[in-house]
Amino acid sequence: MSEAQKTVKVDFGNGSVTEFPIYKASIGQDVVDFRTFGKSGMWSYDPAFLATAACESKITYIDGEKGKLSYRGYPIEQLAENSTHLEGAYLLLNGELPNAAQLKDFVGFMAEHGAACHNLPGLFAGFQRDAQPMAMLGAAVNAVSAYHPEFFVCKDDATRELAIKKLIAKMPAMVAMCYRHNQNLPFVAPKQGLDYASNFLHMTFAKDDNYKVDPVIAKAFDRILLLHADHEQNASTSTVRLAGSSGTHPYAAIAAGVNCLWGPSHGGANEAVLKMLAEIGDVSKVDEFMQGVKDKKYRLMGFGHRVYKNMDPRANIMRRTCYEVLDALGKHDDPIFKLAMKLEKIALEDTYFIEKKLYPNVDFYSGIILRAIGLPNEMFTTIFALARTVGWLSQWQEMIVDPDFKIGRPRQLYTGYASRDYVAIDKR
Ligand code: CMC
Repeated sequence: MSEAQKTVKVDFGNGSVTEFPIYKASIGQDVVDFRTFGKSGMWSYDPAFLATAACESKITYIDGEKGKLSYRGYPIEQLAENSTHLEGAYLLLNGELPNAAQLKDFVGFMAEHGAACHNLPGLFAGFQRDAQPMAMLGAAVNAVSAYHPEFFVCKDDATRELAIKKLIAKMPAMVAMCYRHNQNLPFVAPKQGLDYASNFLHMTFAKDDNYKVDPVIAKAFDRILLLHADHEQNASTSTVRLAGSSGTHPYAAIAAGVNCLWGPSHGGANEAVLKMLAEIGDVSKVDEFMQGVKDKKYRLMGFGHRVYKNMDPRANIMRRTCYEVLDALGKHDDPIFKLAMKLEKIALEDTYFIEKKLYPNVDFYSGIILRAIGLPNEMFTTIFALARTVGWLSQWQEMIVDPDFKIGRPRQLYTGYASRDYVAIDKR
């Protein structure tokens, strides 16, 4: 953190005035350091972190007003155009894009360690056939912490790096297992020679050795992963940081992130979009549905964002990818897609949505692509988790190597009883 150049004075109204240092951001909003605020006898209060920076980070930056996102300073548009998900992963984890030799090593490691842990089939056997994939994935990631006790306390850089790379390598197999368990299909091992995205598609959909991965689909899938790889201090990432701050096993912290991501206000939105489109059912019902949104009976899923108050830049790229995939699969006449496009058009032109700055977010389009690829709705959030594992691990690593890091411990505004006289229960 840079030396504070300026301060903010807070008058607590009781004769005490305290100065708090301001730290400069390299880009975006500066912060006031309120760590000593409690000495005033009050806490700062910000329950949903609307104005609170919970950490210092050098990984990802979002300009919500301008609709910009960058990983380690590189605009997401340039990365989506030129880089694979694994190149983006290397960048997020290490701060720099890999050179050719580093990339070969990184990609080679992922291919070599891509098989699921041998005890996992036994874990999956314990789930009912229609178990929710996110419930299985959270449990699977947690289980892998039991299979790798050596990563519990990652004191040195080499062990930490190994722990991180192993989980990234194994996530595609675990997500594929969720799908195949639901479909009552045998698990499939990764295939040598396939890239990260193609291998996931192979482990998910292959019925026999003749299965061929469509390169357009593999490229689109890889882009979905890259676009979802990290997103500042969102709910699941903050969950990973908070869970990890206790010093727990890194995979247990990632499992906490998986479980947080599941909710429809976060990663579960892509699944909720398709559910919403199915409920609307037909283009003729869109106007009535939109009226219901304005009457606040329900929300337009896949729209709006806490940080983006302009277009979500990932949504722009995803929209183009959506057209590429539907063209490649000959599905652009798909009624659900037509319905989605009608909804998008109305929302982008309607003053209600414009005034509230509600634009399509990445999940509006990713659900449509994933459906076209052949994944059932319930699987969508697992794909988000597969991608975000990279961001979660990058953020966990950044926190753990920070010499000043402490266990997270929010305060509260207590509004319960101040004190009561105990009255024993009459148990007669
Ligand atoms: N549909 C209709 N109205 C909305 C929506 C929506 N999707 N989102 C926000 N609003 C309205 C809301 O009713 C409120 O109106 P008013 O000021 O009249 O009370 C206003 O906009 C502000 O809403 P908010 O709930 O205070 O905004 P937030 O920043 O807390 O919520 C959000 C952000 C993403 C949870 C919300 O926009 C939402 O529920 N969107 C739908 C779910 C969704 O698509 N989530 C995926 C987010 S992108 C993936 C990710 O990064 O996780």
